[in-house]
Amino acid sequence: MVLVMTLIGEILNFRRGRWLLFGATAWLAGVANSAVMLRGDEPPRAPAAPSSLPATPQIRIIRGRSGFFERLPPRPPRDQAARAEHIARLRLEYAKPPQNWPAPLIDAGVEWQELGLLPSQPVSALDVPLEPKRQLGRLLFFDPRLSHSGQMACASCHDPDLGWADGRTVSFGTGRLSLPRNAPSIMNSAFQEAFFWDGRASSLEDQAIQVLMNPDEMNSSPEIVIQRLSQLPDYGTAFQEAFGTSEITLDRVSRALAAFERTLIGGRSRFDAFLSGKSAALSDEALSGLDLFRREARCLNCHHGPLLSDKRFHDVGLSYFGRSYEDLGRYRSTGDVADSGKFRTPSLRNITATRPYMHNGLFELENVINLYNAGMPTLVPKPDQENDPRFPKKSPLLKPLGLNPQDVADLRAFLESLEEPRTRFRPPKLPGREASPVDGAAADNFSDPR
Ligand code: HEC
Ligand code: HEC
Repeated sequence: MVLVMTLIGEILNFRRGRWLLFGATAWLAGVANSAVMLRGDEPPRAPAAPSSLPATPQIRIIRGRSGFFERLPPRPPRDQAARAEHIARLRLEYAKPPQNWPAPLIDAGVEWQELGLLPSQPVSALDVPLEPKRQLGRLLFFDPRLSHSGQMACASCHDPDLGWADGRTVSFGTGRLSLPRNAPSIMNSAFQEAFFWDGRASSLEDQAIQVLMNPDEMNSSPEIVIQRLSQLPDYGTAFQEAFGTSEITLDRVSRALAAFERTLIGGRSRFDAFLSGKSAALSDEALSGLDLFRREARCLNCHHGPLLSDKRFHDVGLSYFGRSYEDLGRYRSTGDVADSGKFRTPSLRNITATRPYMHNGLFELENVINLYNAGMPTLVPKPDQENDPRFPKKSPLLKPLGLNPQDVADLRAFLESLEEPRTRFRPPKLPGREASPVDGAAADNFSDPR
């Protein structure tokens, strides 16, 4: 397995590897700073710190094949009484409106916005009249006839039962070929400004056309789309209602899809209830996790505002430069070496419903938290990479955190509080097709009223 061969593999794999048994695993598992051997029989190698690192005596370098992690000893856990006192203080401070919450720890120069409820979106002028556009977009989103094969719908990879993602490491494209990236959820995409992990689409309309035409994805063409839909009279009626005439164009298809996507908005998580004043909606763990997220764990530097995303692009050390998993992210669309290895900060809303994580889908939630705790990997150039201007530079906002196991559990509890209630979204009855027994009214008795 290639993953095992990589730095990330080494720090995350709990079954194999040697040096990870020292340092990485011991520490990731929260064992304190002594060189504990969990398993295996090799004595730990004392790693030499690369000269570029600040001489912080507490930081221990954990080296892998292509770079290193930085290990800060976990801070001492609070005893029961101190924790009870800490939680009681947080309850008081976070009962106030967000603008009066304790000041977050944000690095100098970072423009940030407090966490909060999603704003109510005024209906975009593009989407008027909304309801017929939404209805048409919903049909198109679930209709595989838009694809060349007639087998692949948008919903194949953005499945409402899987948080509008696909639950896979990377998606399958045409002919079941693996695509390079993990499918993000499309929920709340109304609030994003640039789409795809690297932001290469500037609107949802543009994004939809790119997927439809991509030979590796829906592999379609304007002719296929127009010809297939024109044969179905119900579509003519739906286009008439949405756009005033029954003319079917690719542009209209993309506008209806985008209108539908813009109505998929969350905002019913436990964290939202907490923000609305229901202080019991967050457990003690989640409350402590919220405070960590905003302060010691440094997450708010990039994941802020109602979406928990700054909508900007950062290199968090996962570009796998020069390796088989290499993905230089935004550089691939802008050609600017300053963008090498950068990806858009994803929203963390409903995050627990959309595993696995990161642009390559290689991680579970606990891995992600452990990686952040280790400051994320710092790649070290091989001799032949030293002068390569594309060599990615990890964001200086990432630092080893020294979180202890209780902190890690609290942070996770906060992320879990962002989960939306599960609702069953009924696939529509498609024009020219029989309704399936679970479509439409028949499904009412097992769907949540919305
Ligand atoms: C074969 C699987 C697949 C199909 C089919 C598919 N997508 Fe995607 N979608 C993906 C993947 C993978 C990405 C991320 C790709 C990237 O970032 O390079 C993505 C990204 C997106 C995004 C960007 C989300 C964000 O937060 O930036 C949107 C919106 C989207 N798809 C909508 C659609 C629509 C609309 C359709 C149908 C026209 C569709 N997708 C069909 C797999 C798919
Ligand atoms: C330097 C900015 C930055 C900081 C600080 C940061 N993140 Fe991220 N986060 C990102 C970016 C960028 C990605 C996407 C990276 C990729 O796919 O390669 C990401 C991805 C994630 C994901 C995966 C989301 C998904 O849908 O796949 C989670 C979960 C996450 N971050 C949580 C956190 C937590 C928790 C913290 C604090 C411990 C944190 N982040 C700190 C920028 C940041």
